Amino acid sequence: MDNFIFKSPTKIIFGRGTEELVGEEVKQYSKKILLHYGGGSIKRTGLYDKVVNSLKKAGVEFIELPGAQPNPRLSLVREGIKICRENGIDFILAVGGGSAIDSAKAIAVGVPYEGDVWDFYAGKAVPEKALPLGVILTLAATGSEASKSSVITNEDGWYKRGLNVDIIRPQFAIMNPELTFTLPPYQTSCGVADIMAHIMERYFTNTRNVELTDRLCEATLKTVIHNAPIVLKDPENYAARAEIMWAGTIAHNDLLSTGRIGDWSSHAIEHELSAIYDIAHGAGLAIVFPAWMKYVYKHDINRFVQFAVRVWDVDMNFENPEETALEGIKRLEDFFRSIGLPVRLSEINISDDRFEEMADKATNRGQKTVGQFVQLGREDIINIYNLAK
Ligand code: NZQ
Ligand code: ZN
Repeated sequence: MDNFIFKSPTKIIFGRGTEELVGEEVKQYSKKILLHYGGGSIKRTGLYDKVVNSLKKAGVEFIELPGAQPNPRLSLVREGIKICRENGIDFILAVGGGSAIDSAKAIAVGVPYEGDVWDFYAGKAVPEKALPLGVILTLAATGSEASKSSVITNEDGWYKRGLNVDIIRPQFAIMNPELTFTLPPYQTSCGVADIMAHIMERYFTNTRNVELTDRLCEATLKTVIHNAPIVLKDPENYAARAEIMWAGTIAHNDLLSTGRIGDWSSHAIEHELSAIYDIAHGAGLAIVFPAWMKYVYKHDINRFVQFAVRVWDVDMNFENPEETALEGIKRLEDFFRSIGLPVRLSEINISDDRFEEMADKATNRGQKTVGQFVQLGREDIINIYNLAK
């Protein structure tokens, strides 16, 4: 186990009816806030009215910024920064999924910064200050409600880039599993794939003696695998929605990566896909992750055997461990398929004509590698896209 510092400061307010507490919670930080949300699902579900009433009751003034779209855009972030500056706003409340939250995080670091907020995503500057933010989560997927990440798409060149700094972890996250009842099945499944990917990025490591976090990863994966088919069949099953929602936070608040170095190349390879083709991040991961596994499993067959046996209950073939490892990868792919996700690029009509461009962007034209478990260069990434065809 490596040395580590673990800090997960987000206050989690979990359970039925918790959205009613938002006004009182926000009031502790500010009396004038930006209310940021997506394309309107919160109005259709009635959540918007509840939030507005709770804010008004607590005497919190708010200015609204709707329109955070899946794969949130830089232009809206800039608009948010302007609104906050012009109105003296010092707190942001994001209501929605990862896109609204990530967009809020970008606004939060942009407001106190004199330069262009994209500097932080392009790796040209590191933010030192951020407005505090809070979250009401409506989609179990990204873990952004407690993560130190924000992923934004710059329309100028369609670059999708992440910022990872502790100062953007939300102050609080209100998480009522009932708020996820209204998710379309495809969106639920995309969320499941993203949660699993966050765990698997951490699981495939070269760090030795990480038994506790291995087993925490396996337990979290098994919980999601068990509950996903239940919510797809019965979308209003509170117990199963609750398991998935909490798993989504645990998967990405860094507890599962304490003392170990994760991989993260599947995310880098997927982000190029969703930047260009505007697909759901979770769907992209369902395609990329199995392909990545097929490409790298020989690097550490034992770890893939452990994954197959402990997560997918594959019977160990002692004479042919490779067969066991490959069966685990197959079960993952079968699982994604069974919950209605694509597992090949062709299933979502993506051809091979931009593989080189995406590999160039992921590696800065071959000047850097991605991933830690196995460091991948430009050609490796093209090979993985080809395996995912
Ligand atoms: O925009 P609205 O109208 O709200 O609709 C959304 C959107 O169309 C809808 N939705 C959300 N909650 C709903 C609902 N529909 C019905 N009922 C509800 N309760 O779902 C659609 C997708 O929402 P979005 O926020 O885009 O999804 P997700 O949470 O999966 O976020 C994806 C973004 O987060 C990034 C992804 O790359 C992508 O840009 N990620 C962020 C991470 C982080 N900050 O830590 C880590 C991840 O690896 C990921 O990269
Ligand atoms: Zn993800």
